[in-house]
Amino acid sequence: MRILVLGGTWFLGKEIVFGALGRGWEVTTFNRGRSGPDIPGVNAIHGDRTALGDLRRLSAAGPWDAVLDTSSSELPPRDVLLAARALAGQVDRWVHISTVSVYADWPHHPLTEASPLLDCPPDADDTFGFTGPDGSPTKYGFQKAGGERAVSEALGGRVVFLRPGVILGPGEYVGRLPWWLARAARGGRILAPSPAERRIQPVDVRDVAAFALDQAADLSAGGAFNVAHPEGLTFVEFVTACLTATGGAGRPLWAAADDLDRHGVKQWTEMPLWRTHAGVWAVDPSRAVAAGLRCRPLLETIADTWAWLQADGRPVEHPRWAEHGIAPEKEAKILASLSGAN
Ligand SMILES: NC(=O)c1ccc[n+]([C@@H]2O[C@H](COP(=O)([O-])OP(=O)(O)OC[C@H]3O[C@@H](n4cnc5c(N)ncnc54)[C@H](OP(=O)(O)O)[C@@H]3O)[C@@H](O)[C@H]2O)c1
Repeated sequence: MRILVLGGTWFLGKEIVFGALGRGWEVTTFNRGRSGPDIPGVNAIHGDRTALGDLRRLSAAGPWDAVLDTSSSELPPRDVLLAARALAGQVDRWVHISTVSVYADWPHHPLTEASPLLDCPPDADDTFGFTGPDGSPTKYGFQKAGGERAVSEALGGRVVFLRPGVILGPGEYVGRLPWWLARAARGGRILAPSPAERRIQPVDVRDVAAFALDQAADLSAGGAFNVAHPEGLTFVEFVTACLTATGGAGRPLWAAADDLDRHGVKQWTEMPLWRTHAGVWAVDPSRAVAAGLRCRPLLETIADTWAWLQADGRPVEHPRWAEHGIAPEKEAKILASLSGAN
């Protein structure tokens, strides 16, 4: 197999490269050379995917059996369209990493792949879309939905869309699991969102990568796949696993959503992975599971992420890291006002 990874130096793209090399595949990567070093063993081509000249230079290095596009999280549809059109003649099939945010109903209602998508033209620029007052829908979701349409327009049926929810694991730069791990390591009373039995379904980056590579090898199922953990784990299992992994001697205080809201705790960022909308963790991954998605137990993801943080820390400074987690003084104030409640 000969594949082209758009990206390939950062989080998911990097895991896809490691996985492909492990399968003995020939790998070309394409990025600007800013986000990390090239992985030894790849044919690394540097350039900007928003520049037609760079895309033409890249295209000349083809053909490939498959392209895996991991680098379109911040690109408007028209730039996705530019790359898809420039490469369409040099590639058999395209595995496009999209997101659950493309669904109009996320995070309000349970989702399958048949759920309606946000509407965004395939040639939209970066001004298209909006973020609602409660954080849904998101401009990001509109832009990614337009990106899907752009790839379909250029590749027709030779494309598969993977729609992950939250991706965790070693190399995570967003700072969700790293924050919970650091908080557990600090110990003491830990503010946590009740109900403790709420189930969450993030996926391990290595499992998303393996599924993406399976799809690159055989696109026969086609279409779109929700990529979420089929079993997930409960919040209490999550916090306990963070304490176990870090050896932290902490004890959670489970606070009701109303109490957290009253104290102005921001869902999703200040309390990472906590969001009260009914559909946030109700993403049905059964189509992907039937097509071969295998998700490791999340306890392994948590332990391996702590091991990565201990060994490497975070790969590069990333603005999203600082958005996550509650300030210790604010947490202490809330804990003091709630102590005795549970
Ligand atoms: N993280 C999550 O929880 C999550 C959840 C759902 C879906 N997703 C999706 O998963 C995909 C992968 O996300 P990610 O966070 O691993 O990667 P990412 O931030 O989308 O992409 C980073 C990679 O793309 C390259 N890149 C960025 N802009 C480029 C440009 N203009 N030209 C060429 N290369 C460029 C970067 O290298 P250089 O900077 O060196 O160019 C780097 O290798 C994304 O499509 C994202 O939307 C992520």
